Amino acid sequence: MTRAASVDDVEVRDFRLCDLDAYVAYWHDPANAALEALGVDRAKVYPARKMREMLTMVVERNEALETSQLSILSIAYRGATVGVHELTGLERNGSAVMHAHVWATELRGLGIGMISYVKAMQVYFERFSLREIRFETPTVNAGANRIKEKLGIARRGTGTFDLPILKAPVVTDTYVVERADLPRLLGILAALRAEQRPGSST
Ligand SMILES: CC(C)(COP(=O)(O)OP(=O)(O)OC[C@H]1O[C@@H](n2cnc3c(N)ncnc32)[C@H](O)[C@@H]1OP(=O)(O)O)[C@@H](O)C(=O)NCCC(=O)NCCS
Repeated sequence: MTRAASVDDVEVRDFRLCDLDAYVAYWHDPANAALEALGVDRAKVYPARKMREMLTMVVERNEALETSQLSILSIAYRGATVGVHELTGLERNGSAVMHAHVWATELRGLGIGMISYVKAMQVYFERFSLREIRFETPTVNAGANRIKEKLGIARRGTGTFDLPILKAPVVTDTYVVERADLPRLLGILAALRAEQRPGSST
């Protein structure tokens, strides 16, 4: 039996209110070592109640719009939400910095992220008419850097990245995906899907 996630098992969809509990739990779980690894200062994370209120407002406001403008996307694996993609520094018609969290450690390393990154980028390019999507990936984050390598996204250099929730700016590898690169990335998923088809000899 293969442990690899299949392309069609992984979807991205607008974040829903029913995803809130797991989202808040991830950011407030004292045992969540991923937050330390990302350089997050837990004292700066919004308290659970405030986080819940803010996200509820964002989702409800979005529901009133004719077309979704949500920048938080849930990663669904076999129908269940297992994490999120988010954007910071969003400039419509310009660029944004993309982030990823697969919440449960046991679901990491199955290939979910590699698929969800591409599917999320497709939504973001379209939804916000982006010219480029940037990644400021902590240099020490082997998994997140490996995904860019697997997707053939070239490193553009190193940088530092700061967010209000970080202890200090983190040293990052910078990656930029231009809109014109999306068909190539979708092609990787198409090739993977073909490989995963029952009876495929590859
Ligand atoms: C980063 C993250 C989103 C990736 O999602 P994922 O579903 O685990 O990613 P994938 O399984 O598609 O790919 C991960 C790759 O990195 C590798 N990897 C994961 N952790 C690794 C580590 N500590 N050292 C080396 N390689 C690692 C995996 O083996 C896999 O490569 P492979 O397919 O060649 O084996 C997820 O691991 C996560 O949420 N981590 C915690 C939060 C985080 O770090 N977010 C990123 C912020 S920049």
